[in-house]
Amino acid sequence: MNKATRKAIIAGNWKMNKTATEAAALIADLIPAVKNADCEVVICPPFTDLVKAVELTKGTNIHVGAQNVHFEKSGAFTGEISADMLKDLGVAYVITGHSERRQYFAETDVTVNKRTAAALAAGLKVIVCVGETLEQREQGVTAELVALQTKIALGGVSADDMKNIVIAYEPVWAIGTGRTATSEQAQEVCKNIRAVVAELYGNAVAEATTIQYGGSMNAGNADELLGKADVDGGLIGGASLKPADFAAIVTAASK
Ligand code: PGA
Repeated sequence: MNKATRKAIIAGNWKMNKTATEAAALIADLIPAVKNADCEVVICPPFTDLVKAVELTKGTNIHVGAQNVHFEKSGAFTGEISADMLKDLGVAYVITGHSERRQYFAETDVTVNKRTAAALAAGLKVIVCVGETLEQREQGVTAELVALQTKIALGGVSADDMKNIVIAYEPVWAIGTGRTATSEQAQEVCKNIRAVVAELYGNAVAEATTIQYGGSMNAGNADELLGKADVDGGLIGGASLKPADFAAIVTAASK
């Protein structure tokens, strides 16, 4: 597998942090900090910050993503946001299937698939999250589980659509816990995911697909994780709120 054929992507998942006013200040710090990046840089603030984020990052190398999207085009879905609404704002990316959505908001593999399909149809790029819990890892079902999540999430997605898909491997036990997967563990699962993509779409698509690792990635461990053959970037939570830390991860991915 040739890492040089793929685009490294570092995406910040701000989660439920930052008012629009606070977001403007963070973005002002981020713009100079990542301006020399030799990788794709994405920030995913809360919905309420998206207008401001798109406006402030115009003309910079920072792309804006949302953290979730509904699968219907419009209608009586109080509190939800459609893919067309995001696209119309100038949002480029959306995250689907984050484990916090699965854990707290009843997200299932099937709804992850529906959201992914709706986002692709609207012309968004999608960061699809998969990953096992600690219990599942200890039961030895990580490979099967992540393969299943990946296959269901990508149901109906064409080989051509795959250029707009990024897969983020995020072991649930490593998210927000300070407990990072070892680079070997990250590599092993990212490689398995690439094999699943190859099974579904062939080797050329698999080699071109960006597969990120996420879960307590920070300025100190990014180099090692991103140095692995099948780890093509990171989905960053906590460290994405600290401009210097996020910039250090971007630098690590730019090597
Ligand atoms: P973390 O979050 O970096 O704070 O562990 C990663 C994520 O949930 O995407």
